[in-house]
Amino acid sequence: MKILLRNLSEIVQCHKDRGFIPLGCDTKLVSEYNAIAIENDKILSLLKDPNETGYERVIDCRHGIAVPGFIDSHTHLVFHGTREDEFEMRAKGRTYKDIGLNGGGIKKSVRMTREAGEEELFSESKKMLEKFILRGVTSIEIKSGYGLDKDTEIKQLKVIRRLKEEFRINIKATYLGAHEIPTEYKDDKDGYIKFMTDEMIPFIAKEKLSDYVDVFCEKGVYTGEEAERILEAGLKNGLKSRVHADEIEFSNGSTVAAKLKAKSVDHFNNPDIKDLQVLKKNNTVITLLPATNFFLHLKMKPPIDEMRRIGNIIAISTDFNPGSSPLFSILLSATIGMINYNLLPDELISAITINPAHSLDLSDRTGSIKEGKDADILVFDRENYKQLFYFVGDDIPKMVFSKGKIIYG
Ligand code: NIG
Ligand code: FE
Repeated sequence: MKILLRNLSEIVQCHKDRGFIPLGCDTKLVSEYNAIAIENDKILSLLKDPNETGYERVIDCRHGIAVPGFIDSHTHLVFHGTREDEFEMRAKGRTYKDIGLNGGGIKKSVRMTREAGEEELFSESKKMLEKFILRGVTSIEIKSGYGLDKDTEIKQLKVIRRLKEEFRINIKATYLGAHEIPTEYKDDKDGYIKFMTDEMIPFIAKEKLSDYVDVFCEKGVYTGEEAERILEAGLKNGLKSRVHADEIEFSNGSTVAAKLKAKSVDHFNNPDIKDLQVLKKNNTVITLLPATNFFLHLKMKPPIDEMRRIGNIIAISTDFNPGSSPLFSILLSATIGMINYNLLPDELISAITINPAHSLDLSDRTGSIKEGKDADILVFDRENYKQLFYFVGDDIPKMVFSKGKIIYG
């Protein structure tokens, strides 16, 4: 099947041969072409005013723009139950941390997710994932971490596997058993860490239930030293690392991520800036979650100026979860990053396409509009890509292509 997308006012290529675009890298994002030829699941070529014969389908994009399919590289999409009561508590002055210490937070979602059956969880997760696809996400990472015990973590990972089978988009799974300390182990954290390193991680790796291991490295949850032990067990079993690092206060998360050459270090509100240099050297992606800070009323922000000076690679993700970010819109996350972190449209566009593709080991196939890559392409009714972030909340593309097939529009 050959398809021609014609009459585009802009094609945002977002391509660099290295497979990522660091901050400060001078890149021409927009190509000189105005049409894209697709053959089966791949991008065949970029063209200027092409001859329209020889295609099974010619689509007039009416001066809209084409951008690479969006990539959300940090979500907790499989969970049961919601926590709007906590959102209201924060409006009354309570904090995320204090709510978590008093029976709410992650532990509450763990209780609810443990009670849900696999079928129920699967059908709820499917509905959530459809909302991401509607908003142009063609690759997504999904974490476990609302089970903590063996059965529920595996139930979550199996749901992710079934989503992979059911949907055309790319899905990567991450084991986040170290999202909290389960109540059963409240006086034996070391025992729980051993259970993860000696039992869960080898099992998950053997069953190919996960691509990565993640740890919530934060004061009161896992220390840097504990995070290292858990992530090392992942590496030993062939699973690369991602880290929830230093969200509320510095907890050695950035240092562990640098030491273990993590694929991604996330949140990053209070890192040690001495780690930026090593993170750059290792091509670790710093995944920013500005919508989470916004939703939690957190006023802090990552050290963007230092990151620009060093030339780190950044991604922006939704962090979609029932507690700190019940948000389906990666574009809205980017707009919040523009307002609260002073990120610029050129930085934002690679932060939701090629850079998260690199953090998910997908940049050889997707994340940019380039000959030979998967045809993961969005068409938006916009005059230029800067308007993607400017028309706040209007986040639905006209068309979503995943591997050459229209999956929305
Ligand atoms: O990335 N910070 C830890 N984990 C999630 C929040 C999960 C929850 O509150 O349910 C996050 O923000
Ligand atoms: Fe998260």
